[in-house]
Formats: sequence, structure tokens, C-alpha cells
Amino acid sequence: MSITRMTPDDFGDVARLIETQNLNPETQCLHSGEHADEIEAVFRKQPSMHFVVMRSAGVLVGALGCEVEDGRGYLQGPFVDGVAFAPAANDLWQELQAQLPAVVRWDAFLNVRNERGGAFYLEHGFRRGQGAQVYVMPAAALQPLDGEPAQRFTPGCAAGVRALHELAFADSPVSLDEFMTMDDASRCLFVCTEGNRCVGYVAASINDSPREGYIDLLAVDASVRNRGYGRRLLLTAAHWLIRECGMPQVGLTVRDMRADARRLYQRSGFELLYTGVGYSREINANKRS
Ligand SMILES: CC(C)(COP(=O)(O)OP(=O)(O)OC[C@H]1O[C@@H](n2cnc3c(N)ncnc32)[C@H](O)[C@@H]1OP(=O)(O)O)[C@@H](O)C(=O)NCCC(=O)NCCS
Repeated sequence: MSITRMTPDDFGDVARLIETQNLNPETQCLHSGEHADEIEAVFRKQPSMHFVVMRSAGVLVGALGCEVEDGRGYLQGPFVDGVAFAPAANDLWQELQAQLPAVVRWDAFLNVRNERGGAFYLEHGFRRGQGAQVYVMPAAALQPLDGEPAQRFTPGCAAGVRALHELAFADSPVSLDEFMTMDDASRCLFVCTEGNRCVGYVAASINDSPREGYIDLLAVDASVRNRGYGRRLLLTAAHWLIRECGMPQVGLTVRDMRADARRLYQRSGFELLYTGVGYSREINANKRS
């Protein structure tokens, strides 16, 4: 059994392993891709995606990946097939940690039915966090905008959008700044205003794996909820992703506690695809287990 850092020669095998494991809810790691060709394309495009791979007599039997962003590590896996899960996952984890720069926090997001993955993270000092649902809307289910669309973000709204973002997503790792640059064709920010006041915003982007439009952030000021702003923002973003960008579907992830948002999504053509659960671990400098 050997464990090495993934190289381009491993891309195809690892992508196929992830595709197979993600077809089964009991081994699925959410947000790690569904189709081998798309997963492989992400490996080629995204050098920040770091995987360690385990081979037995040359055959790939395990992989564990991580994307490090702003000092946080977003884990993918462990994916193990054909050998005992727990020892293989443990060895992959030790090797991955040895190879990566120090992070302040690890996060993983598994299908709620992936019990072996959940047990693995709990054994390694992770805390089970909130549940979250992954929703998807196929292009054919896109509903008409029954009024004016939301407006494109302009720098004049920056302070208002930031203030709403702080209130609604204080702990979100998604950075608003990358949506505010306005020169990136794969992201867009829309706002609703009342007079000069920004009362809501939605951030949308294009994902490579699965290839889909994605709603990253959506919030409406608490003082003006239940007046249709949320739906207008959501549908404006969905129209942009499907009609202008040609995306085959739109996805999003919503936490259990956000019941208002889930009702809005269901009413607007989104269907529940997966139920997941997050695992996280804060790190004291240099502590490993
Ligand atoms: C989720 C959120 C964006 C919804 O925004 P909103 O502006 O209240 O959304 P809408 O007004 O379009 O829809 C909300 C409700 O108002 C109702 N509504 C809309 N216009 C209405 C009107 N003119 N009269 C009466 N009711 C109306 C809708 O039917 C809907 O009812 P339902 O929840 O029973 O289905 C908002 O609650 C929010 O910002 N929450 C905190 C952040 C959050 O959870 N974001 C999502 C993270 S994934």
C-alpha cells in the first residue's frame, strides 16, 4: 500500500473513484463533484485542490482531498473502495495533514447517510454541525419573473450590501469581495433598493463540477421581508444563470435553520436533491491527531 500526493497521472482514476463513491449516499461527500469528466477538469484547472491517493498493487483504493482557502481547509472524502475504510481513511488523513500548510479550521460536508465518513470525522476531533440541504432547479422549471427584475450591483451599493451580509452571513466563508469586482463573467451580484437604501442582494456564480449555476448568497433586510424581494432576487439570478449563461440547472445549499429560505426555494421551482451534514474542527497551532 502506498500513499502519494496526486499527480496529473492520477487525475482520471481519482475522478472515477469520486464519481462512483458519490453515486451512493452512504459514501457520498457533498460538493465534491458528480461526473468524472467534470471532476477531472476541475483538477486540471484548480491547482489549490490538493489530494493524497492510496494505491494497492497499483490499483487506486483511496483518496482524500482538501482545498485551502484563506487558511481554512475544505475536505473532500475520505473516498475508500476495496480495502477496509477506517485504517485507509486514517492513513490518508495523516498524510494529507503532513503535506498541507497549517490551517485554522477544517470543514467537511457529507451526505447525512454517509455514516462511516461521519464516524471518521468524529473520531478525529471534528464536531458535527448543522444539517444543510442541497437544492437544484432544472432549466425547464425556471419560472417567469412576474415584475421588474432586480438590478445589477453598482459600487454605490457596496456599503449597503456589506451591512446586510454581516447581519445575514456573519460566519459564512463566502467572500463578497469577489462578487463586487464586476469584471468576472462567472459571477454576478444583484440588488434590490428602496430609494437609496439597499434592501436585499443575491450572489450567483458558475460551478464547474457539477456544471451548473449556483446561488451563493441571498438575503433581504428583516424590515422588508415577505414583500416579494427574496423571490425577485432569486429569480433574477436564476434567469441570468440559465438564460444568459446557458446553465442547465441552478443549485444552492441552505442550512436547516433557514426555514423561510427553504419555503422560498420550494415555491420557486427548486427541488431537494441531498440532505447533508457539516463536520468542522478548529485547530490550535500545530496540534494534530
Ligand atoms: C430567505 C429570505 C431571503 C426571503 O426573503 P423575502 O424577501 O422575505 O422573500 P419573499 O418576500 O419573496 O417570500 C417570503 C414570503 O413572503 C410572501 N410574500 C411575498 N410577497 C408578498 C406580499 N406582497 N404579500 C404577502 N406575502 C407576500 C411569500 O409568499 C413568502 O411566503 P412563504 O414563505 O409562506 O412561502 C429572507 O428571509 C432572508 O434574508 N433570510 C435570512 C438570510 C437567509 O436565510 N438567506 C438564505 C440563505 S440560503
